Formats: sequence, C-alpha cells, structure tokens
Amino acid sequence: MTKNILITGGAGYIGSHIAEILVKNKKKIFIVDNLSTGYRRLINKKAKFFKININNKKKLRSILINHKIDSIIHLAASLIIEKGEKYPKYYYKNNVSGSKKLMSACIGTMVKNFIFSSTAAVYKDGLYKVSEKSPLKPKSVYGKTKLKAEKLIINQCKKNKINYGILRYFNIVGSSPSGKIGLINKGDHLFKNFSIQTYKKNPIFKIYGTNYNTKDGTCIRDFIHVSDIAEIHSKVLEKINMTNKSKILNCGYGTGISVKQVALEFKKYANKNLKIKKMSNRKGDLVKIIALNKNLKKFIRWKAKFNNLKVMVRSSLKWEKNQ
Ligand SMILES: NC(=O)c1ccc[n+]([C@@H]2O[C@H](COP(=O)([O-])OP(=O)(O)OC[C@H]3O[C@@H](n4cnc5c(N)ncnc54)[C@H](O)[C@@H]3O)[C@@H](O)[C@H]2O)c1
Repeated sequence: MTKNILITGGAGYIGSHIAEILVKNKKKIFIVDNLSTGYRRLINKKAKFFKININNKKKLRSILINHKIDSIIHLAASLIIEKGEKYPKYYYKNNVSGSKKLMSACIGTMVKNFIFSSTAAVYKDGLYKVSEKSPLKPKSVYGKTKLKAEKLIINQCKKNKINYGILRYFNIVGSSPSGKIGLINKGDHLFKNFSIQTYKKNPIFKIYGTNYNTKDGTCIRDFIHVSDIAEIHSKVLEKINMTNKSKILNCGYGTGISVKQVALEFKKYANKNLKIKKMSNRKGDLVKIIALNKNLKKFIRWKAKFNNLKVMVRSSLKWEKNQ
C-alpha cells in the first residue's frame, strides 16, 4: 500500500479533490504549490503544505527524502489554452521544465509511483472518439507542453524503475459533495462561467464557436465530474503500486455533450432574461473530442458515479451559490 503521497498543485481545483479523497483513505498527504492559481482555503487541513515552486529541485528533493514520499501525483501546471497561445515561453517553462525538475528530484529517493495529469488536448483535432493509441498532435501550446511533459516523465520513470500513470483528463467539472472545495478560478472554464452567470440578475452565457461541423454547431466535450477523477487517482495509484505496471489512460465518461446542451441545462436555473451570446471561435479549441475509456475501466474496474449532465450542473451551481 502507498503511504506518503506528495501532490503538486494540491491547492488547486483538482488537486484539492484528490487530497480530500486520499486523506479519507488514511494517506499522509504533502502538498507542494506556489499558489500561482491555487488557494490556501482549498488546502486540506490534514495535509502538510509547502509553498514552493516545482522548479525548486533542491527543496523538492529534501521534502521527498525527509518525508519518505513513496508516490507523487503531479498536477502543478499552467492550463489556460488562450494564455498559452499568448505566453508560450512561460507555459514551456512551467509545464515542461517544471516537470523535468520534479522528475530529476525523484531520482535516488523512495519514490516508487508517479501519476501525471495530462489532457485530451494532446490528441489530434477532428478524431472525435479517441483511444490512448489515437494520433497525438496537440493544437494548442498548452497541449504541446503537456505532451512534452508526458514523454519526459515516461522516459525518466522507465530509466529509474518508477511506475507511472499518465492520466489524460477530459473536461473536469463539478465540486465535492462535502461542499468544502470547488472551482474558484474563472479561467476559461465553461461550467464555472455559466454558474457565475446563472446567479446574476442579467445573465449572459457566451458560446465560443457556433458554426462548427457538429450536431448543433457548438463544440463537443466529454465532461467528467471532479469526484470521479479524484477516485480514479486513488485507484490507479494503488493499482500501479501493487502490480508494478505503468499505464497511459484516458479519463472521461465517453459521452459527448455539446456546449449548447450545457447552456440549455444551466438555463433551467437562470433568470428569465438570460441572453445566450454567440462568440467567434477561439484559437486552440478542439472541435469535438470524447474518450474511449475501455482501458481505464478494465485497469481499475471503474464505475462512474456522477455521469449525468444534470448532476454535474447542479454540483457546480451548489458550490457557486456559496461563494
Ligand atoms: N481542469 C481541467 O478540466 C483539466 C483538464 C485536463 C487536464 N488538467 C490538468 O489538471 C491539472 C490541475 O488543473 P486544475 O484545473 O486543478 O488547475 P488549477 O490552476 O486549479 O491547479 C493548478 C495548481 O498548480 C499550482 N502551480 C502551477 N504552477 C506551479 C509551479 N510552478 N509550482 C508549484 N505550483 C504550481 C497552482 O498554484 C494551482 O494550485 C493541470 O496539470 C492541468 O493541466 C485539467
């Protein structure tokens, strides 16, 4: 069994949910985060927190050694597609060089397992249903940095006999049923922006791109609830630790939902004078993509718990209401 787990980016949206489930599972959690997009109030009270940058190899190494870390879950990254197009150097530095430093800090320590948060943005556009073997051709700078990081992590893990799990998330939404944690950053997050607007007097839902070649002209995504993603981490980690197997796994429900469908679901809760505004396409956005998740299901015998648009919308709204 794993015992001492370090989560980079544990003060962020997804990292805080992973910490919550692992604490529940009686693991000792250590969090490294520079709070660039994370928040102190998302940090699990039972976790030990270090406010440092993942570029700080020396400090990272001493944390790994002093706390006998056996597993790392690496989420720390910059992830806003549009910002990546604007500041590619920064994105490379944070996502690629940062991961490299973290990896090299692990060498010669007790780290046995390494889980990396990758993304559907590494796949070629226009494929629709993608398996882990589908062609990789990131459209965005963000996707490119994530693919580079995947490759260097796999290389280093192989060289140093560390089990790895590369988890390619699709679109994460919702909040923990505990009500304690959820998404704070706005970024370009669809559910977040619709949630904020839903509670306004004069709500506006902006839809970027309405003339794509899809069923209703808007982008299609595979939305997955953050609690399901958190559980996947816990299970994949135990499995790679137990079997000494390494895997690349798509993490999505395999259900395609259009942006317009999401807007119509949120509309049910919004003020009557809601306006749905058509915006132009955004550079870097994939048109449609959903996960083939057979491998994930097989590897951890996974069954989704929140695979329902209504449930995901309500979960996002519940969190937003208390903000
Ligand atoms: N949110 C999604 O839908 C989604 C989809 C696919 C993949 N991912 C991946 O999941 C991971 C987490 O995303 P999130 O949505 O929780 O974002 P987030 O911004 O809430 O979390 C990222 C965390 O990393 C920290 N961080 C960033 N750079 C750092 C650095 N150099 N040193 C230390 N800490 C640093 C931030 O302060 C933040 O707390 C990312 O790696 C992202 O690429 C997210």
